[in-house]
Amino acid sequence: MERTPLIVGNWKMNGTITQTLLLINELLQMAQNLKDIDIVVAPPFTSLYSASIALQDSAIGLAAQNMFWEHEGAYTGEISGDFLKDIGCTYVLIGHSERRQYFGETDESVNKKIQMALGLELIPIFCLGETEAQREKKQTFDVIQEQLKIGLKNLHMNDFKNFVIAYEPIWAIGTGKNATSEQVEEVHSFIRNTLEKSFDAPMANGIRILYGGSVKPKNARELKQTKNVDGLLVGGASLKADQFIEIIKC
Ligand code: PGA
Repeated sequence: MERTPLIVGNWKMNGTITQTLLLINELLQMAQNLKDIDIVVAPPFTSLYSASIALQDSAIGLAAQNMFWEHEGAYTGEISGDFLKDIGCTYVLIGHSERRQYFGETDESVNKKIQMALGLELIPIFCLGETEAQREKKQTFDVIQEQLKIGLKNLHMNDFKNFVIAYEPIWAIGTGKNATSEQVEEVHSFIRNTLEKSFDAPMANGIRILYGGSVKPKNARELKQTKNVDGLLVGGASLKADQFIEIIKC
C-alpha cells in the first residue's frame, strides 16, 4: 500500500509570533514545488492562530503540540481540542515524551486525549518510545506494546483512517544520538505487526509510522529508505528552514 510520506516539524517551546511567521514564510517559499509529501508544522500554542492564517490556502498543515481531553470547563491552563479545531489545526501531537517526562502524562491520559481528538476529527500523532534504561534492559518491545495497548484502548477500526504513530526513542531526542536503521526498522515493524494482530492487515498497512529523535539532513535519507518508515518527526532541525527543507527533500 502506498503511504504518502509525512514530515512534521515540532517547534516545541520555541518562537514568538514574529519568529514563527518568519519561519513559516521561509518554508512556504522553499516548499513551493514539493509534491507527493505531506508537511505539517507544530508551533507553540501562542503562535497557532497567526500560523493558521499564514498557512491558509497552503499545502502545509498545522498541528498543536498537546491538548486536553475535555471540551471546556474549570481546567486552568489547559487547551481543548475544540479550540484547536476552531483556529484551524488538523493534527495534534499526543503523548510526546517531554509531556510524559515533565508533565506527568501517562498512557491513560494519552488514551483519553486520543479519543477526544478523534471525536473532533483532529488527526492524532501518537508519540511513543522507550528510555535508554529500558532499551539496555531489553524491554523496548514490552514498553512499546504496553504504550500501544493502553494508548489505543477503546479505539475501533474506523478510528485509524486518519491516524499517525510516531516512534521516538527517548534517548535519541535532542541528544544527537541516532537510532540505527536496524533499530528503527525493528520497532516500526513491531508496531505494524502489533496493529495487525489487534485490528487487521489493511488497517496496519494504511497507518503512517514516523520516526523521531535527532533527525538531521545527514541521517534523513537513510531513515527514509528504511522499511516501514513513512515519515519523520523533526524537533531541533525543523527550526531552521533550510535544514527542514533539506530533510523534506530527502
Ligand atoms: P529532536 O526532537 O529532533 O530535536 O531530537 C524530536 C522530537 O522531540 O519530536
